[in-house]
Amino acid sequence: MSPPTGALRGGHPALATALDSLEQGLDALREEGRYRHFVELERPAPGAPFVRIADGSGRVVVDWCSNDYLGMSLHPDVVEAASRALAEHGVGSGGTRNIAGSHVLVRELEDELADLHSQEAALVFTSGFIANDASLRALGSLLEGCVILSDERNHASMIDGIRGSRAERAIFRHNDLEHLRELLEALPPMVPRIVAFESIYSMDGDFGPLRELCAVAAEYGALTYLDETHAAGAYGHEGAGVAQALGVTDMLTVVQGSLAKGYGGLGGFIVGPATIIDTVRSHASGFIFTTSLPPAIAAAGLASVRHLRGSDSEREALARSGRTLREAFARAGVIPMPSESHILPVLVPGAERCRAVAQRLLNEHAIYVQPINYPSVPRGAERLRIAPTPAHTPAHAEALAQGLAALLREDAGSANGHSNGHSNGHVNGRLPRAAT
Ligand SMILES: Cc1ncc(COP(=O)(O)O)c(C=O)c1O
Repeated sequence: MSPPTGALRGGHPALATALDSLEQGLDALREEGRYRHFVELERPAPGAPFVRIADGSGRVVVDWCSNDYLGMSLHPDVVEAASRALAEHGVGSGGTRNIAGSHVLVRELEDELADLHSQEAALVFTSGFIANDASLRALGSLLEGCVILSDERNHASMIDGIRGSRAERAIFRHNDLEHLRELLEALPPMVPRIVAFESIYSMDGDFGPLRELCAVAAEYGALTYLDETHAAGAYGHEGAGVAQALGVTDMLTVVQGSLAKGYGGLGGFIVGPATIIDTVRSHASGFIFTTSLPPAIAAAGLASVRHLRGSDSEREALARSGRTLREAFARAGVIPMPSESHILPVLVPGAERCRAVAQRLLNEHAIYVQPINYPSVPRGAERLRIAPTPAHTPAHAEALAQGLAALLREDAGSANGHSNGHSNGHVNGRLPRAAT
């Protein structure tokens, strides 16, 4: 066992200095109200959309922040496939694919994903985060002289991959086609370039203008890299994402997705031209040097992808739940951010205030919503990120809307005097920008 903190501090002075600096960092988070408190719970319990709080009270509350958007983690086909694979193949995958081989279930999953996205090849990773980080890191470092043009609101996993690639990067303003064009225009004509963006920005709930972004990228010979994490399974007539819903799949080069949101399991993937997928497979550390997805998780992913290719009812139910919640918010006077997708964030600026509203929702209204702080969103644009699912009823939506409206009214009342002019958190319609 490693020595406890106290013993380390009593050792070499350099160790004590290092610990002090870490502790100062944690104190700074506490002072800013950004220290991470995780609610301990069982999910779902006794079934979606409920969770049981593990504080000894046995309290069951309504969960509004799960990314299991379609309830697929509980779908009988998915549970059955995972249980069968678990019984037949055990818990672990036995190692990296390099050493332990590719489990046939993982290969089947890759074939299914490539076919779903009408792409030549697919590669599965242990998470959506790793899919982005490993792929962009590898492509950016292998393409000689490459420049990566990245939307300023791209997810941390893309930012990490881009930074780690050491490729030159250019950040374009969120969804700003003219800015992207300007940056592309300024590049020497023959340098390889990748334009990276998302289909749904999950902290704001807005969409990327995929067709237009692809058109600009094509004009300048750029590869495109699209993150469909929050749309995978949940958009498009077979669940292939927003690109499928818009009919632009053939305009994209690489598409990344997660198996942990709409598909309800775990894992991530990229699909694209065989040369690119084979390059990532052959060079990306985040693919090569880590144990592969366990067979039961691959089986769950495969069952979920297959089910959602043939069934629209989950996507329709998700859209219905979103509409019901928007209507309940409108009746109660809660103004969500101008989201276009199923995700409905409500601004509550100030880390402490946002956390206090979430805590009171939990304690007084038996509703669980996690506050979102910097660096997931810019400072001053803290929010409650609310994700309706098919399991939420109109009564759940009404209770959330009424409870939230009451708390936001109180919060606005107590904030008056040092008010920033928001009613339920709207900062004059304009958000500060996150640093990328
Ligand atoms: C846009 C985006 N990309 C990638 C990821 C990582 O996906 P995963 O949770 O599968 O690691 C997330 C996580 O929520 C995300 O929001």
